[in-house]
Parts: sequence; structure tokens; C-alpha cells
Amino acid sequence: MPAILTLASAGPQEKGGKGDAARGKALFEIHCDECHDGYSREARVGPGLQGLKNGKLPDGRPATHDKLIDVVNNGPAEMPSFKERLTEQQKEDIVAFLMTL
Ligand code: HEC
Repeated sequence: MPAILTLASAGPQEKGGKGDAARGKALFEIHCDECHDGYSREARVGPGLQGLKNGKLPDGRPATHDKLIDVVNNGPAEMPSFKERLTEQQKEDIVAFLMTL
């Protein structure tokens, strides 16, 4: 009987999507929010990221899943790299959240 509970509590990644936007939001607040406003295009240290769901980065290039993972890993210009600071799953979670902005 308790085995049924275990199945029901399997993580969202089990359902097909790679990232979980709710977890990504919490990670964004810890790692990204100091430099990026997710809810406007106003700059902090880096550009505001609102509007990514429309498919465009602040600099106008396409905001694809792979491009966003690349930004998190490599950090353009003054942005720090998060390659070693986040797990692959955490990166997927953050990108899932970014694509809701
Ligand atoms: C210390 C400040 C800082 C932190 C922390 C930071 N960024 Fe950035 N970010 C920047 C700056 C500065 C730029 C602009 C770089 C440029 O002009 O090319 C940028 C650019 C970006 C861009 C736009 C890239 C483009 O090509 O238009 C995205 C998306 C982004 N950051 C996402 C994130 C995410 C997600 C996190 C958290 C994991 C994060 N940033 C953490 C400073 C930061």
C-alpha cells in the first residue's frame, strides 16, 4: 500500500518536462535576482529578463532552451559562470522558470 504514495510523489521531471519552473523560481531568487529583474526589462547589473517566453533575449537573439543553458554555463561578459555552481537539474529548473517570464 505505501508504495502507491511513493509513485504519486515522483518529481515533475518524471512527467516529461526536464525542468521544474517552481523550483527554478526559488533558484533564480538565490542566484540570479541580485543582477536580473525577472519581471521587467529594467537593468540591474544585467538586463531585466521579462519577456523571454516570447522567444527573445534582451540582446534580440533567440531565447531557446539550449541558448539559455549556454548563458547559465558560460556567462556572457560580466556575468559569472554557473557551470560548476549548479547541477544539471538545477540549470534545467532555472531555464524552465526563465521561459515563463
Ligand atoms: C553578478 C551579476 C549576475 C548574476 C549573478 C547573473 N547574471 Fe545574468 N547577466 C549579467 C550581466 C552583466 C549580463 C549582460 C552580459 C552582456 O552584456 O553580454 C547578463 C546577461 C544574462 C542574460 C542575457 C544574455 C543575452 O545574451 O542577452 C541571461 C538570460 C542571464 N544573464 C541569465 C542569468 C541567470 C539565469 C542567472 C542565474 C543563474 C544570472 N544571469 C546571474 C550579470 C549577472
